[in-house]
Amino acid sequence: MTEASMIADHWGRGDVYGLIVSALAKASKPLEGLTVEDLAPVDHFHARGFPATVELADRLPIKPGTHVLDIGCGLGGPARYIAQRFQCRVSGLDITKPFVEAANKLTALLRMDEQVQVRLGDGQQLPYPDASFDGAYAQHVTMNVPDRPRFFAEAYRVLKPGAFFALTEHGLGPTGSPHHPVPWSEDGSGAYLISPEETRTLLDRAGFRDFGIEETGAKYLAGYKMAIEKAERGELPPLGIHILMGATAAQKAKNAARNIEEGRTRPLQVICYKPG
Ligand SMILES: C[S@@+](CC[C@H](N)C(=O)[O-])C[C@H]1O[C@@H](n2cnc3c(N)ncnc32)[C@H](O)[C@@H]1O
Repeated sequence: MTEASMIADHWGRGDVYGLIVSALAKASKPLEGLTVEDLAPVDHFHARGFPATVELADRLPIKPGTHVLDIGCGLGGPARYIAQRFQCRVSGLDITKPFVEAANKLTALLRMDEQVQVRLGDGQQLPYPDASFDGAYAQHVTMNVPDRPRFFAEAYRVLKPGAFFALTEHGLGPTGSPHHPVPWSEDGSGAYLISPEETRTLLDRAGFRDFGIEETGAKYLAGYKMAIEKAERGELPPLGIHILMGATAAQKAKNAARNIEEGRTRPLQVICYKPG
């Protein structure tokens, strides 16, 4: 198994679309008339889910009719939300085939296929010409990316001058050695965390400028704690990202929280620009 297929296998196996459809049925959400907001509890697959996407989108300068790239788009929830909110086009790309298939089926269900298209691919080798996009973002993807300089260089290459690049991730904290399993790795394999300082240096070397950096650890921690408490009270809803995280979902959330508390990880959100 290659490194890329091992990482894809970690994220999604089998019929992910079927899993979501049966969770929707358990949540009494009919497929007919389903909205972006109905799907939001399950298809924003990152710390704090939908609210974190909304807060990121609040800071992005996206104009109607523009074309944005979602690198590591997962199930396409953020792509559909951004396309709907800003009336723009979003292309998504992800390394995990069952997620790409589910993303496109969910987009079709919402009748948004003209605005949002998702394809299989690796963010380290983008299948798009130079200067194709007005902006790009990668939410909670880079923890699994071994070649960060290449990933950032590819994002830079496909952006038009003046375009934004946004990134959210769990950076490596000063204590190091995160506990596993965490959402992005069962045992440390396929995990490539680097410090926020190194991320900023590498983005700068790729050519990005005008950095806005926010440390998001405290917000993530509150989100994880809320989810852990709900799980312990047996109150997790049928539709949620826990259904995508397998048998170790509860342990992953606990370790993700503990890693932040112990300074093993240092989550951040970066927004920067390709000079115009
Ligand atoms: C935590 S999920 C985030 C999904 C989506 N960005 C979201 O926020 O809902 C991480 C995603 O990154 C994808 N991924 C990991 N490495 C990748 C790579 N090198 N290229 C493209 N996608 C990648 C995984 O397949 C997975 O869908």
